[in-house]
Amino acid sequence: MEYNESQFLVETNVPEDELIISRTDLEGNITHANETFCEISGYSLEELLGKKHSIVRHPDMPKSVFQDLWKTIKEKKQWRGIVKNLRKDKGFYWVEAIISGVYKNGVLIEYKSLRTPISYADKLKYQILYDTMRAENNEAKRTIIYKGQI
Ligand SMILES: Cc1cc2nc3c(=O)[nH]c(=O)nc-3n(C[C@H](O)[C@H](O)[C@H](O)COP(=O)(O)O)c2cc1C
Repeated sequence: MEYNESQFLVETNVPEDELIISRTDLEGNITHANETFCEISGYSLEELLGKKHSIVRHPDMPKSVFQDLWKTIKEKKQWRGIVKNLRKDKGFYWVEAIISGVYKNGVLIEYKSLRTPISYADKLKYQILYDTMRAENNEAKRTIIYKGQI
């Protein structure tokens, strides 16, 4: 399938009454994803299993957010943050993610993430914040230009 830039502009809504769930091994490879994850990301379970979780990384996300995430969970603490994710069709969806360890007999064996929707005000706030963070660190730029009257 060929992509065009318009596809990057389409948002998928995250339902209020369902959780988007995934688990990874300690290196961040996906070991489980629920039906809602598959539906919202546009991938089948087979396409997700064994892949790096960065398969849904959106280019609007600053690198430092994920550095903070990994630092936090490796310290065996819970991380909570706002993430813009990339769908298979290049559209996007915003979530609040809670990521933490999965323990068996007190031993850390995997990581898990639960995701819920965020408000319009938060989407706007974090889009501006993440755009600013990327600009400050010379990360990926997004350009949208409208010519003529709007
Ligand atoms: C349990 C778990 C869930 C994650 N969920 C996401 C996610 O939804 N979106 C995302 O971009 N990264 C997620 N990550 C972080 C990725 O592993 C990765 O660090 C990130 O996509 C940035 O990619 P990079 O490390 O290759 O730069 C998750 C990590 C873990 C451990």
